[in-house]
Amino acid sequence: MKIVSIVGARPQFIKAATVSRIIRANPEINEILLHTGQHYDENMSDVFFRELNIPVPDYNLGVGSDTHAGQTGKMLKGIEDILLQEKPDCTLVYGDTNSTLAGALAAAKLHIPVAHVEAGLRSFNRIMPEEINRIVTDRISDLLFAPTQTAVKNLTGEGLASITHFTGDVMYDSVLYYRERIQDDPEKYKTDGIPDKYLLATIHRAENTDNHEALKNIFLAFSKLGQDIVLPIHPRTRKIILSSIDMPKNVHIIDPVGYLQMMKLTMDASKVLTDSGGLQKEAYFLGKQCITLRTETEWVETLHDHWNIITGSDPELIENAVGIAPPSTPPQPFFGSGKSAGIILEKLLSF
Ligand code: UD1
Ligand code: UDP
Repeated sequence: MKIVSIVGARPQFIKAATVSRIIRANPEINEILLHTGQHYDENMSDVFFRELNIPVPDYNLGVGSDTHAGQTGKMLKGIEDILLQEKPDCTLVYGDTNSTLAGALAAAKLHIPVAHVEAGLRSFNRIMPEEINRIVTDRISDLLFAPTQTAVKNLTGEGLASITHFTGDVMYDSVLYYRERIQDDPEKYKTDGIPDKYLLATIHRAENTDNHEALKNIFLAFSKLGQDIVLPIHPRTRKIILSSIDMPKNVHIIDPVGYLQMMKLTMDASKVLTDSGGLQKEAYFLGKQCITLRTETEWVETLHDHWNIITGSDPELIENAVGIAPPSTPPQPFFGSGKSAGIILEKLLSF
C-alpha cells in the first residue's frame, strides 16, 4: 500500500513522527513523505526531523509564508503534481493547517482517498482559519481518525459516523514515548539560562497576534503576575511584538525549541499559559495546569477540575486563573491508551 503523508507545520512533524514510525515498521506500507514548506526556519522544521528521526521528506515544496489563498494555492499545485506522479493508494493528512487543507483538496480532486488524523475537532468559531480547514478536510476525507469521543460526536452530528474511527490521540502516544527518553537523561534536555521556578507560555494564534488589544492585554497580565515567565516565541509573534509591545522584565523570551526540550520545559514549569492546541494537551498529559489564552477550546475534556481554564486575553481572568490551586484529581484517559498510531495503521490496512 503506497501512502503519501503530507506535513508542513510544526505540530504536524510531531504527529507524523509517531505515525510514520509505526506505519513504516509494517512491510505492507510504502510511505512517501511530502513537506509543503509552510514552516521552514531551522527551529520550526529541521530540528524536529533530526531529533525525532523523521525520515527526510521525499519532496519539499518550499512554499513558505504567504496569504491564506496564496500559500494554499501554491501547495495545491505542488501537491497535485506529486500525487499525479506517485499515484498513491491513499493520502494521510494531519490536523488543521493550510497544509492539511491543500493536501486533502488536491487528493480528493484526483479521487485519491484521504485519511485525516485528528479529525472532528471543532471550536465552532469560524473566525479561526483552522476551523475552516478542519470542516472542509473532514467533509472531503474518506477515513476520519478521531482523537477523542467529543470529536466522534462532532463528526456523527455532521453525518460522518460511517467513516469515523476513534483512535485516541497520537500526541498522547508521543508524550508517553518521548517522556521516557527525557527521564533517562533529563540534563540533556534542560534549557540553559532560565529561572528555576517559572510559568511556561506560548502565543501564536491569529486571534491574539493579529489583535493589538488582545496581545497588549496578555502582556499586561504577564506583567501583573510578577512571576518569571519563559516564552519560546513563535516567529509570527516575534515579528509583531518587537515593534508593538514593551516587554515586561519578568518575561524571558527564548527562540522556539525542539520537541524534547519543550516537553522538559513543560515538565519543569509550575503552570502553562498558551493558545496552542497541542500544548494544552501536553500540559494535561504531563499533569500541569493550563490557562488557555483563547475564548474556547476544542479539547474540552481537559477542562474538568480546573486542569485547563479558559481566559481569553482578559488580564483579570488570566490573573485569577493563575491563582487557582492545581487540581487534586488525576488527568483522565480521554485520549486513548497511547496506541493510537497502531490503530491508525490497522484501519489503513483494512480500508
Ligand atoms: C500555522 C497554522 C496553525 C498552527 C501553527 C503551528 C495555518 C492557517 N495555521 O500557523 O494552525 O497552529 O502553524 O505553529 O495553517 N514564519 C517564519 N518562519 C517559519 C514559519 C513561519 O518566520 O518557519 C512566520 C512568517 O512571518 C509567517 C508567520 O510566521 O507569515 C505565520 O506562519 P504560518 O505558517 O502562515 O502560520 P502559523 O501562525 O505558523
Ligand atoms: N513546541 C515545540 N517548541 C516550541 C513550542 C512548541 O516543540 O518552541 C511543540 C509543542 O510542545 C507541541 C507543538 O509544538 O507539541 C504545538 O505546536 P503549535 O503550538 O505550534 O501548534 P498547535 O498545536 O497550536 O497547532
